[in-house]
Amino acid sequence: MTDHILVERQGAVQIIRLNRPDKKNALTRPMYARMTAALAQGDADPSVRAHVFLGAPGTFSAGSDVADFLAMATGGDNGPEVWDFLMALVGIEKPVVSGVDGIAVGIGTTLNLHCDLTFATPRTVFRTPFVDLGLIPEAGSSLLVPAIAGRQLAFAMLALGEGFSAERAKAAGLIYEVVEENVLEATVLAAANRIAAKPPEAIRIARELMRGPRDALIARIDEETRIFRERLKSDEARAAFTAFMTRKKAD
Ligand code: COA
Repeated sequence: MTDHILVERQGAVQIIRLNRPDKKNALTRPMYARMTAALAQGDADPSVRAHVFLGAPGTFSAGSDVADFLAMATGGDNGPEVWDFLMALVGIEKPVVSGVDGIAVGIGTTLNLHCDLTFATPRTVFRTPFVDLGLIPEAGSSLLVPAIAGRQLAFAMLALGEGFSAERAKAAGLIYEVVEENVLEATVLAAANRIAAKPPEAIRIARELMRGPRDALIARIDEETRIFRERLKSDEARAAFTAFMTRKKAD
């Protein structure tokens, strides 16, 4: 079991904490698997009433681990852990709150599209450089971002890979609130505890009504995943992964 994901309990709130700060919380396959298991366990446990995602100070997540991408690009399997995680995230029945501080790349951005409340700090930049990596948008983002924020903003974010500040993401309806770093965790936990204090059946039904049927979202994730896996093996993607993994850092 990986200690790069810490699963904690605070009362009726289950916290999934991304804990690989030396690699900017880049998500490896075991980390995805651990999060999937935690979501399933938390959802099945009646004493859990809300899920929380948190990262490290200054780093929510730099996205999927590019070394894993490179391994998949050069003959490994398809990395079913990511798809399993997305299905768990889409399928859970209890509310999800996330707290994002600093780096939020790739799935570090798109994960929040599945949350009910996202709080982010002023220094947060949401960035989805899928196309720059020779890839395509994932996690249902090609459906969700245009629906939430309109097609032009979605294009800037998902095709151009433009970085979005927390304020801009909030104005676009992609996140709920911007709060200072020093109160992020407390604010997220307070929101989750407020949720946890509500009648659980009523909040479940209310959330379900607001989310609506998931069929179209799941179909889109399937389609994105199929194309994403093909793109992983493309020359464009391979070149981008190799460039990242072999880049020289400035002193
Ligand atoms: N996959 C694998 N390793 C990653 C990673 C990722 N997605 N993101 C960061 N890391 C590693 C770096 O290789 C580096 O490892 P090292 O110390 O062994 O050399 C370490 O994490 C620190 O990253 P670094 O790039 O030095 O931090 P930074 O603050 O200068 O830059 C980012 C942060 C997020 C801008 C930069 O790391 C980055 O662009 N990462 C890739 C993001 C990405 O393309 N994700 C996939 C999205 S689909």
